[in-house]
Amino acid sequence: MTRVLMVGAGGVAQRHIRVLTELGATVSGVIDPVEAAANAVATEWDIPCFTELERALDAVEPEVVYICVPPFAHGPPERAVLERGLPFFVEKPLGVGLEVAADIAREVEESGAVTATGYHWRCLDTVQRAQGIAADIGPQLVNGAWLGKRPPVAWWADVDRSGGQVVEQMTHVLDLARVLVGEPVEVHAAGVRDPGAAGDRGTVDDATAAVVRFENGAVGTFAATSLLSAQHLASLDLFGTGTVLQLRETELVVDDGTSRVTHEPAEDPRTVVDREFLEVLRGKRDASRAPYAEALRTHRFGCAIATAARERRTVVLDPSTGRLT
Ligand SMILES: NC(=O)c1ccc[n+]([C@@H]2O[C@H](COP(=O)([O-])OP(=O)(O)OC[C@H]3O[C@@H](n4cnc5c(N)ncnc54)[C@H](O)[C@@H]3O)[C@@H](O)[C@H]2O)c1
Repeated sequence: MTRVLMVGAGGVAQRHIRVLTELGATVSGVIDPVEAAANAVATEWDIPCFTELERALDAVEPEVVYICVPPFAHGPPERAVLERGLPFFVEKPLGVGLEVAADIAREVEESGAVTATGYHWRCLDTVQRAQGIAADIGPQLVNGAWLGKRPPVAWWADVDRSGGQVVEQMTHVLDLARVLVGEPVEVHAAGVRDPGAAGDRGTVDDATAAVVRFENGAVGTFAATSLLSAQHLASLDLFGTGTVLQLRETELVVDDGTSRVTHEPAEDPRTVVDREFLEVLRGKRDASRAPYAEALRTHRFGCAIATAARERRTVVLDPSTGRLT
């Protein structure tokens, strides 16, 4: 049994509570500054609720903390948890920009805290299969996409609170590109806000197009839009000599020109990501698939695209540190 404190009572926190409970962990409390949100979740799960993190930590005495707050709210929760020497799971993205996340990464490294992050696509067995095939074919072209809609949360349309679509949504696809191709070293990008859209649309771009070069020489294009009324596509396609790999959360298609084989994931990666973290905490696994430092590298990639689009310039990343110049 593992005693969990949930920080944040929104959509993703509720998913983690359900999955963790199914996995045999005990979510012993929830904290959210919006009392009604904390209350609703506490009532549903019959657990205590709080509006202040320190009080929740004192009362619940958790063994692990799940941090499921919006991008703008990162920093204080991670620091409070690190001060108590506790392991934590944090949802992506790690922040709006890089400053807070880089600071937390340093503190995580210094303290040796055990961490996991919400890059659950890495837990797909189809990604692990794709890794083997990609290593054989050495893809030279990558094509990533996140084509969908604005999530129905108030903070999303404000780029200073969400980070924008690339940082907040396409980050899953960027993470996969790092896993399957390698580190990005050069980023060009452009963004647009739909001039014809009516009403207050906030400050996020409605579409972004990026061109990326990777450390191994491979090149990629990445496209994102939130203009649609439903999710259309989230994907990463890889092209090597004679072979195409098409990866979605729901399938991997391998097409070598003579055969086209579809593999479906054995298990929901949203369950696997929590199970594997519990295994780490129980000493049954060395580390989660995307500990904080790994997630920071992916977050730097997303921020590089956002910066290139915003500042209309090429952004170069140091492949050994992931830092932007
Ligand atoms: N990995 C995934 O598949 C996945 C899916 C959905 C969301 N997410 C990520 O999870 C995060 C939260 O998304 P959501 O959809 O749950 O948002 P949400 O708006 O539904 O919920 C966020 C909750 O956090 C609360 N909150 C704000 N500041 C807080 C603080 N300092 N301490 C505690 N709680 C605080 C808000 O009041 C709100 O109730 C986002 O970064 C999002 O990108 C990840």
